[in-house]
Amino acid sequence: MPATVIVGAQWGDEGKGKIVDLLAQHSDLVCRYQGGPNAGHTIVVGDETYKIRQIPSGVVTGKTCIIGAGCVIDPTVFLAEVDELEARGFPTAGRVHVSGNAHVIMPWHVAIDQASERRLGKLQIGTTRRGIGPAYADKALRIGIRVQDLLDPKILRQKIEVALIEKNLWLEKVYGEPPLELGEVAGRLEEHAQRIRPYVSDTSLLVDQALRAGQSVLLEGGQGTLLDLDHGTYPFVTSSSTIAANAAAGVGMGPNKIDRVMGVAKAYVTRVGEGPFPSEIEGPDQERMREFGHEYGTVTGRNRRCGWLDLVALRYAVRVNGIDRLALTKLDVLSHFAEIPVCTRYRLPDGMETEDFPAHQSDFHAARPVYETLPGWEEPLDACVTVEDLPDEARRYVEFVERELEVEVTLIGTGADRDSVLAPYGLTALTGAA
Ligand code: GDP
Ligand code: IMO
Ligand code: MG
Repeated sequence: MPATVIVGAQWGDEGKGKIVDLLAQHSDLVCRYQGGPNAGHTIVVGDETYKIRQIPSGVVTGKTCIIGAGCVIDPTVFLAEVDELEARGFPTAGRVHVSGNAHVIMPWHVAIDQASERRLGKLQIGTTRRGIGPAYADKALRIGIRVQDLLDPKILRQKIEVALIEKNLWLEKVYGEPPLELGEVAGRLEEHAQRIRPYVSDTSLLVDQALRAGQSVLLEGGQGTLLDLDHGTYPFVTSSSTIAANAAAGVGMGPNKIDRVMGVAKAYVTRVGEGPFPSEIEGPDQERMREFGHEYGTVTGRNRRCGWLDLVALRYAVRVNGIDRLALTKLDVLSHFAEIPVCTRYRLPDGMETEDFPAHQSDFHAARPVYETLPGWEEPLDACVTVEDLPDEARRYVEFVERELEVEVTLIGTGADRDSVLAPYGLTALTGAA
């Protein structure tokens, strides 16, 4: 019963979509366990590029895909994605399943997310403004609307009516925004509900049946470890638990069914939005890294902030997720640098140096990176088919990461395309597929 979690080990956009797409070819079921359309995953197959936001990345390989109870779903985004996939030849009926317990991102969540960020001004979190935080907040307050509520038009209208009384007060009086109109909101959602109905399933049961049948299940995380609500760089985080342990809770299966945790990390680091970022590059290399790595948000198009690989933060991600294998993506982007600094320790305000991620936010905010500089290889990696083909310096870079983290690097990304990857231990061994 092999279940494998694929978790972002940095601040998101590590290339999880590509890794999930790759491993999905050797799996049967791919599940998202948290998050919503704040995620944007890019998958490149030959001349085709797929940008996926709500549906698991396994959809491109035609695998059964599950949006678990721990997710939030924006019906408009979901249906637009369904339409796009269908138009490009990927059937979704009977293949994509949405948990009835997942929460719906309503128009007021999006409006409040946007208004709240605007009002915070300089203090903003830099959210994706897709209503993620307000939707999870209502879930915790027990006033959310769930996917299963879409199945009963009478209950749905009633819930929207009750919610709008309070949400419109909030929008008008707190944020000075125009109110939402009941007829319009309910009408649009009722239309969406008709189309979403066939996708609603008992997803926990589906996962259990797959595991009992000995099928291979991938659990795909959105965002990344440092954006985790409890263990990330709060308050500059997302509003869900992104870490591997939540994969079981988010799809509704026992944690003892998970037997592998693969972390995905770039060979450097990026971050979108506000918040501390010790290894952020100062000077022109920041812009060079952004250009070479095409570091612009999949969903928002925003510039991603770029930094050198931060092993303190990555060591922390290994710890809080139980990462036992690592996919190191975008090694090819480092081909452009003659020397490559790697942050191995932080210097704290009291002058002490640490390899461990600071437990207190003030220490983290003030932490200065201590770098070891490794030689670059300054040649493209396009022609590399096996790890042995890598230039010596590139291989040493990977070995350095393995040594520092005490975790094996089992996949190495050498380009955006599905095939641009080195797998020293093969692919099937990574998912436990027969
Ligand atoms: P995700 O959110 O973790 O799925 O990552 P995104 O898809 O948002 O961002 C990762 C970007 O890097 C995408 O544009 C990918 O196509 C691209 N990518 C993934 N792996 C590699 C790699 O090994 N090399 C290069 N050059 N690009 C990669
Ligand atoms: P994927 O799955 C990178 C960041 C936002 C912001 C913070 C909160 O593609 O890796 P939210 O809208 O979630 O309330 O925003 O989290 N963020 C991401 N950064 N990749 C993502 O997803 C992200 N999803 C949210 O930029 O700083
Ligand atoms: Mg992304």
